[in-house]
Amino acid sequence: MAAELEERIRLAYEARASMHADPGLEAYRLFHGYGEGGPGLLIDRYGDVVLIENRGAEARDVAIASRVLQRLDEFSCIVLKERGQDPRALLGTLPSERTVVRENGLSYWVETWAPRNPGLYLDARPARDWLQSNSHGRRVLNLYSYAGSLGVASIAGGARSVIHVDTQKRALARCQENHRLNDQRTDARDLERVDAVKMLRKAATSGRRFSGIIVDPPPPGVGAGDVATPISLAPYLANVAEPGAWILCFFHHDPRSWDELEAVMGNSLDRPYEPIWRGRSGPDFPESTAERDLRLSALLLP
Ligand SMILES: C[S@@+](CC[C@H](N)C(=O)[O-])C[C@H]1O[C@@H](n2cnc3c(N)ncnc32)[C@H](O)[C@@H]1O
Repeated sequence: MAAELEERIRLAYEARASMHADPGLEAYRLFHGYGEGGPGLLIDRYGDVVLIENRGAEARDVAIASRVLQRLDEFSCIVLKERGQDPRALLGTLPSERTVVRENGLSYWVETWAPRNPGLYLDARPARDWLQSNSHGRRVLNLYSYAGSLGVASIAGGARSVIHVDTQKRALARCQENHRLNDQRTDARDLERVDAVKMLRKAATSGRRFSGIIVDPPPPGVGAGDVATPISLAPYLANVAEPGAWILCFFHHDPRSWDELEAVMGNSLDRPYEPIWRGRSGPDFPESTAERDLRLSALLLP
């Protein structure tokens, strides 16, 4: 069994050879246990720091993973995160300073010691790439912004403005820090600390309109209260989307087919729409079940 896991991690590492060789890509998943034969084990690289996230694997498997990784590459630190415990270093010293990682020409702050996400969702990389190519001249609304990487990508793609909406003060501060890191001008008025639905309701009545809307609510099971989805928000989104706007939807853990998700989304918008793009997480997130996959859909509202 130990030999099997070792081999799977080694194969996963080799399958990402083009990512290791890309000097412009410093953060990606090294081993996606769900799809690569190590359930409960997720391994991410942020520069020369590796994060092992244990979501139910045996302690022995974590030790194997750490050992194989040290043989495969020269990492300065391997951090282990386990539910209910403080992150700890299996190799090197737990970083205490935030660091910067590069992706597709942009830089992002990451806190690799943080108990939760370090500041950059690696599965959203294809969305950031899409935004860099499809934001030109748009007024973008980034709902559930977290640290703002999607807005940074939009501005890099020529967006005229980006408004970030999040309930967490710290998340909005990180948006500002990430914009600054990329020499993008920011204004405190572009950061709105408010519930997304409240913001959308108010924007509808006050006549605010957007030509690009990003909808990435927390996946089911994360946080308290009712879970918003792009579909549940659709009636509000339709009110603030100007003609020609796109809506970039993040569908997390939804058993419905892609066609069905887009059709239900379109019906809930109650406006003509045209699907213009579909995306998934990158090849570093091979999934064994379609419904666990993140699915990204961009819909154009003519
Ligand atoms: C999954 S993260 C979004 C990730 C982000 N789009 C990215 O790519 O980095 C979810 C974010 O939604 C925020 N959030 C949760 N409930 C919210 C609400 N009701 N209104 C606005 N933001 C909310 C959380 O604070 C968190 O930062």
